[in-house]
Amino acid sequence: MSDSLGTLNGDTVVAVGSDHAGREHKELFLKHLEGLGVKALDMGVAPDVEKANYPDVAIKVAKLIQAGEARLGVLVCGTGVGMSLVANRFLGVRAANCPTEFAASMARAHNDANVLTLGQRTVGPKLAVAILDAFLAADFEGGRHKERIDLFEGLYGTEKS
Ligand code: RB5
Repeated sequence: MSDSLGTLNGDTVVAVGSDHAGREHKELFLKHLEGLGVKALDMGVAPDVEKANYPDVAIKVAKLIQAGEARLGVLVCGTGVGMSLVANRFLGVRAANCPTEFAASMARAHNDANVLTLGQRTVGPKLAVAILDAFLAADFEGGRHKERIDLFEGLYGTEKS
C-alpha cells in the first residue's frame, strides 16, 4: 500500500476506462494502480479494440460511481473532453479533465472531483501517471468548497435560461 494515496486505502476501488484513443494510457494506469495496492476495475475497452464510442465507457464508469461500487473513476479518450462531458451528466459524478498535476490536485481538493479524465493525444504517458498520482494523493478540503459544490450539484441539464 502506497503512502501517497491521501485518505484512500486498500479497499478503495477505482474504475478505469477508455475508448480506442485512450487504450495505452488505460493499460498503464491499471498497472500503476495495481502497483500502488489500489483495487482497479477495468471497464474496457480491450487493448485490441480499434473503434469504440467514448460515451459507452463513460456511462459504465459513471454508473459504478453512482452505485457506490467505485469511489473514483479514471477515463481516457483522445482529449479527455468527451469522457468528461458524458460522465458529468450523472448526478453525484464530478468529472474533471486535468492536463496538469496541479489541476488534478485542485480538482480533488476544491471540486471534490471523483472522476479524472485525460487525453492520451494531449498528455504523454509519464505526465499522465504523475497526474493520476496527484489526483489520488489529494483530499477534498470541504468547508467553503462544499458550499460551492452545493450550488450546482442538482443542476444536470434540465435548466433553461
Ligand atoms: C476519438 O477519435 C475521439 O474523438 C475521442 O477519443 C475523444 O477525444 C472525444 O472526446
